[in-house]
Amino acid sequence: MSSQLLKGKRGIIFGALDESSIAWKVAEKAFSEGAVFTLTNAPIAMRMGEINKLADKCNTIVIPADATSVEDIEKLITESMEKLGGKLDFILHSIGMSPNVRKNRGYTDLSYDFLMKTLDVSAISFHKIMQTAYKLDAMNEWGSIVGLSYIAAQRTFPSYSDMADAKSTLESIARSFGYHYGKHRKVRVNTISQSPTWTTAGSGVKGFDAFYAYADKLSPLGNASAESCADYCLFLFSDMSRMVTMQNLFNDGGFSSVGVSDEIMQLLMKE
Ligand SMILES: NC(=O)c1ccc[n+]([C@@H]2O[C@H](COP(=O)([O-])OP(=O)(O)OC[C@H]3O[C@@H](n4cnc5c(N)ncnc54)[C@H](O)[C@@H]3O)[C@@H](O)[C@H]2O)c1
Repeated sequence: MSSQLLKGKRGIIFGALDESSIAWKVAEKAFSEGAVFTLTNAPIAMRMGEINKLADKCNTIVIPADATSVEDIEKLITESMEKLGGKLDFILHSIGMSPNVRKNRGYTDLSYDFLMKTLDVSAISFHKIMQTAYKLDAMNEWGSIVGLSYIAAQRTFPSYSDMADAKSTLESIARSFGYHYGKHRKVRVNTISQSPTWTTAGSGVKGFDAFYAYADKLSPLGNASAESCADYCLFLFSDMSRMVTMQNLFNDGGFSSVGVSDEIMQLLMKE
């Protein structure tokens, strides 16, 4: 049931590709909690057309933008403020892509051109979005900007390859920009470190089913769903979290604090 947690708030949601996308769930829930927002994705993702269905459901528009292009981001933010009738209160960065992972290039055989693309799309785009919003003075005071991360930023998951470096950079950008935006306009910046989740980006990682099953067996609460991640995003967009900034927050069913679980022990014990 809706409590209109985000009533009166305006935002931009990056990264809804299809119904399984975490950003898709955030949009549906933000809409039912009273927020108004625009949707955006890379022009190439638009061709699939799914995002238009989401826009219809959320009574909004889609503004295409490649998150690596400052020019596209400027246009997106300016048009969003026009469409929504004022400055923004929240932005969701739900973007990740590694050509190395896609092409199965392991960490000891990276293409450096691909690595640059991974970092630009998955991490530096977060800085580009914030710097553009900062320069356009597009955020209201106490606004909230959220990026989505993964625990490979802190611990090694071999097949996550260069995405681990992108996530470490993403989390660092959240802290660094969070300082400046906090001082400047009291804008908050956080990342949510999410459990493995069955989405297009998630399942593109080699051995994803094993990642998923392992995390599920290790976490006392089991893996966090995309819906629960969306709930956490809404809490961070809301005034309920107004003193939370520069944090990487785990939405992972406890995974990050567990050494070993009974389930994993049982799998490995000889007798
Ligand atoms: N699925 C998981 O297991 C998992 C776990 C932790 C964190 N995350 C993170 O959650 C976020 C959302 O991913 P998801 O799992 O919902 O998958 P998804 O594939 O649905 O979303 C990824 C989005 O990034 C967009 N994108 C790629 N390149 C872009 C560009 N140049 N400009 C603009 N958009 C671009 C894609 O079009 C897509 O919409 C990502 O940051 C991902 O790393 C996912």
